[in-house]
Amino acid sequence: MRVTHLQLTDFRSYEVVDVQFGPGVTTLVGRNGQGKTNVVEAVRYLSTLSSHRVASDAPLIRFGAQRAVIGAKVNKAGRALSLEVTLVPGKANTARLNRGNAKPRDLIGIVRTVVFAPEDLSLVKGDPGGRRTFMDELCVALQPALAGDMADYDRVLRQRSSMLKTAKNARGDLTMLDIWDEKLAGLGGRIVAARRRAVRALAPYVATAYADVAPDGGDCAVTYATSLDHGEGRDDYYVEPMAPDASAADIGQRLLERLIELRPKEIDRGVTLAGPHRDDLEIRLGAMPARGYASHGESWSCALALRLGSYDLLTAEDGPDSDDDGEPILILDDVFAELDLGRRAALAARLVTASQVLITAAVADDVPTALAGDVVTVAGGKIERENEL
Ligand SMILES: Nc1ncnc2c1ncn2[C@@H]1O[C@H](COP(=O)(O)OP(=O)(O)O)[C@@H](O)[C@H]1O
Ligand SMILES: [Mg+2]
Repeated sequence: MRVTHLQLTDFRSYEVVDVQFGPGVTTLVGRNGQGKTNVVEAVRYLSTLSSHRVASDAPLIRFGAQRAVIGAKVNKAGRALSLEVTLVPGKANTARLNRGNAKPRDLIGIVRTVVFAPEDLSLVKGDPGGRRTFMDELCVALQPALAGDMADYDRVLRQRSSMLKTAKNARGDLTMLDIWDEKLAGLGGRIVAARRRAVRALAPYVATAYADVAPDGGDCAVTYATSLDHGEGRDDYYVEPMAPDASAADIGQRLLERLIELRPKEIDRGVTLAGPHRDDLEIRLGAMPARGYASHGESWSCALALRLGSYDLLTAEDGPDSDDDGEPILILDDVFAELDLGRRAALAARLVTASQVLITAAVADDVPTALAGDVVTVAGGKIERENEL
């Protein structure tokens, strides 16, 4: 799939901008701060309704403007679609699909993107939150309906946690907590099941990508680490791990039992101690965990392997031959200068066959001419291409 046309109004630094993209590679070149990342961030926003740089939408709206609009024309499995989303600070987004009003959530998953950016180093080195987001975005790309479960889970978790805080003082009626436990377990079971499936499907692709990126680097393995098997109060006795093929209902039941077991601690501390929000993606290089052990270069290779692995999984899951045309748009934001020859070679193989790749670079020479494709200059809020499409 690919984006053929992007129109931004009051998005980030752009008042109005209109840019067309051809198939294959487009490289956006321009000095720092000229608005290259802003363009690819808009494409990425359409795929997940979130940015790869900031958690809230406010900075996406041009400073001083009332709203931002991202519009795009997309070519998917030979069909032309038009998508539009309007961001208004403090209010829900509105959306249009093929000129009709749509729920913003209905846009999720139409455009698929895989973004590799310098921030991705924190996937390997940072806290579990970033890795949970990584898994959740992969799950939603594979199964867009999960976005609803995830939003519901966050809401139920917040409500349950505030109930736990009051329960400590109220001492007594905990029947309401039972109801929230049921809701949390139902949604949590579905999310954990989806993440376990996604991670299992991803693992071989990450292993292959890592071997491409770091040929002398040993094996890279990713697995799902869950608070339903381990953690809080579980370190001192053995618990049979969940079966690999446990259903969402089985996992939900297990979460429910875990919540009952943890309840006194939870009331004492006022937080929910088990569930998908306490889980992690475990990344290992050989026998050692990547986090805390891997060198800077190894961490960088791991991060790249996670992204390339996702790209390959999404491409395979809904291959170009199927109606769904799952191949994502590959976005490489400001990473080329950091890549050595080996890593560039690992990318090059994918760049030549990909339907669409968007690269940003401060210096054109950082991207080998053979890979740069269609070169577009970004300067002073204007986007100009070297060759007409
Ligand atoms: N909401 C906003 N309103 C106006 N300008 C913004 C907004 N957000 C970011 N900018 C400006 O956009 C520029 C950064 O653009 P970016 O695409 O990140 O640059 P680069 O070309 O280095 O990738 C900065 O000059 C910043 O001030
Ligand atoms: Mg940038």
